[in-house]
Order: sequence, then structure tokens, then C-alpha cells
Amino acid sequence: MTNSFGKVAVLMGGDSNERAVSLLSGDAVVHALKRLGIQAEAFDPSERDIEEIKNYSRVFIALHGRGGEDGSIQAFLKSKKVAYTGSDALSSSIGMDKLKTKLLWRSLNISTPDFLQVTEKTSYVDIVNSIGSPFFIKPANEGSSIGIDKIKNEQQYKDVFLKTSKIDSNVIVEKFVDGDEYTVAIVNDKTLPVIKIKPSNEFYDYEAKYIKDDTQYICPSGIEKDKEVLIAQEALEAFRVLGCSSWGRVDFMINQQGQHYFIEVNTSPGMTSHSLVPMAAKEIGINFDQLVLEILKTADVK
Ligand SMILES: Nc1ncnc2c1ncn2[C@@H]1O[C@H](COP(=O)(O)OP(=O)(O)O)[C@@H](O)[C@H]1O
Ligand SMILES: [Mg+2]
Repeated sequence: MTNSFGKVAVLMGGDSNERAVSLLSGDAVVHALKRLGIQAEAFDPSERDIEEIKNYSRVFIALHGRGGEDGSIQAFLKSKKVAYTGSDALSSSIGMDKLKTKLLWRSLNISTPDFLQVTEKTSYVDIVNSIGSPFFIKPANEGSSIGIDKIKNEQQYKDVFLKTSKIDSNVIVEKFVDGDEYTVAIVNDKTLPVIKIKPSNEFYDYEAKYIKDDTQYICPSGIEKDKEVLIAQEALEAFRVLGCSSWGRVDFMINQQGQHYFIEVNTSPGMTSHSLVPMAAKEIGINFDQLVLEILKTADVK
């Protein structure tokens, strides 16, 4: 049965800031597919002619960040009528863009922290009057916490704005959520158990994600059962309204008062053996190989 998938290309690597992680994700996926008896090959679009992708019957996208997660590769695969995993081009591109994501969520009453788009003309005082202090600054399009900082005073804001606006000309500031951070994985229209993320740094920054290894991942999350079910349902809604499908991850925070806020969606999450989606799947008895198979089954021409 598993051979009915034909020859599968696992897209990995690429040239985004997240290349290294993508190679690890892709490797893990290739190995899982091979263990399942599926003919699978690694395909690094920065080393091979992407046109060769038409020699494969399905594509598992294990690229992260720009190029792989922002709709470009998805639009290309669509033009070649190749079936691929993950969200389609438009929703990948919206999901990568925190400003567009939040504008859509806000307009549909999906809870997300207050935010503003800022330019060099925006004053620190205006931001503080609008969303309070401290606040977060983010490039609209990036990942891995690059260009993200918690702003506590005017001088820091000026310095960080300069750096962040070089990463993306679209910069947003977002109200600080004082509380705990969580993530919920979605595979084939179903949510997996919520994971609580407890970084030892002030927030889940680049260092906490990729350099230090002392972040705690807690699953079951400790959120009261009924509440977790409700939030998971809303997370699925938050995913769907962006047009996302197949699989992904929605990140959210819960403040001291117990109010939850959706922070962002990841349309091509990490798939290393110790990534979050595999961790959540394991909690309900789905092992890494079974998870990869479930995701591959969602591959479609879209
Ligand atoms: N509004 C916020 N309040 C508190 N912490 C935040 C907020 N926004 C982001 N963070 C922290 O910054 C991290 C990175 O932000 P996120 O929006 O997820 O960007 P990225 O796409 O780079 O992962 C989050 O994991 C969280 O720890
Ligand atoms: Mg994030």
C-alpha cells in the first residue's frame, strides 16, 4: 500500500536562514519514509535544478522560512501540477506574514494581541500610548525569532527598529503578553495535544531555539482539559481562516488572567526527531514514522 505513493521528493535545505534546521527535518523525514518502504529522496533546491521535481510523484516539503514556507515553492509546484504537503501558496504566504495574519485574525474576531504597523515616522510615545510598555517588535516576514525583541525603553526601540527594518520593511509592534507560551499542532484537520514551551531566556529567542538546550517542553500542557479543547478548536479555526490545510502549528500565549492570544502560524514546522509536532503526536501514541505517513497522505495538487 505504501508503495502507491510513487517516488517522493523531500524538499530540504534551501537558502533561508533556517537551512540548517531544514536539513535536519528533511533527513529525518527521508529516513522515516524509507523505513515505511516508500521510495524517497532528498531534494535540496539550492543544489539541484528545481525543474527536476517533475520526475517525482509527490513532494514532502521540509523547507523552513523564506522560499520554502512563504508560498514561492508552493506556487511553483502548483504550476507543475505536482502534489505536495502543507498549505497552498496563498495561505503559506499569509502565514509567513505576521501583519497579514493578524489583520485577518483581528477582522474575524480571533484573539491576537493588539498590534501596530510601524515606520521610521512612528514615535515610541505613540506606540506606548497605544499598546503599552514593554512591547514586542517583529519583522512581518521572518522566523526563528530573528529581528524580534522585547522593547523596554525609547533608546532600545530606536536601535532595534533600525535592525529589524533591514530584515523586512514591514515591521510590527505587538502588545506584550505576560504569561505562558504554548503551541498546538494540526495534522489533517485534527489538533494534537498542546505543548507548553518554557524557555529559560526572557522569551523564546534565537538562542533559546537553536543554541541553548534548556528550554522545557511540557506535554500534557497543564491547561485544564475543557479549556485546552476549546483553545485547540479555536486554533484550528485560526488555521483554517488563513486558508491553511494539511498540517502546521499554531502558537499562542495565555496571560496571567487566563486569556489566550494567538501569536502566529507555522505552515512548515520543524520535523527533526525532537521537534514539537512529533512530540505532540507521540503523546497520543503516534510515532515519528506514522506521523510522516499521515502528513504525506495529505499531499495534493493545490
Ligand atoms: N506578544 C508577545 N508577548 C510575549 N512574548 C512574545 C510575544 N510575541 C512573541 N513573543 C516571544 O517571541 C517569540 C518569537 O515570536 P514569534 O512571533 O513566534 O516569531 P517567530 O516567527 O520568529 O517564531 C515567541 O516564541 C515568544 O517567546
Ligand atoms: Mg514562533
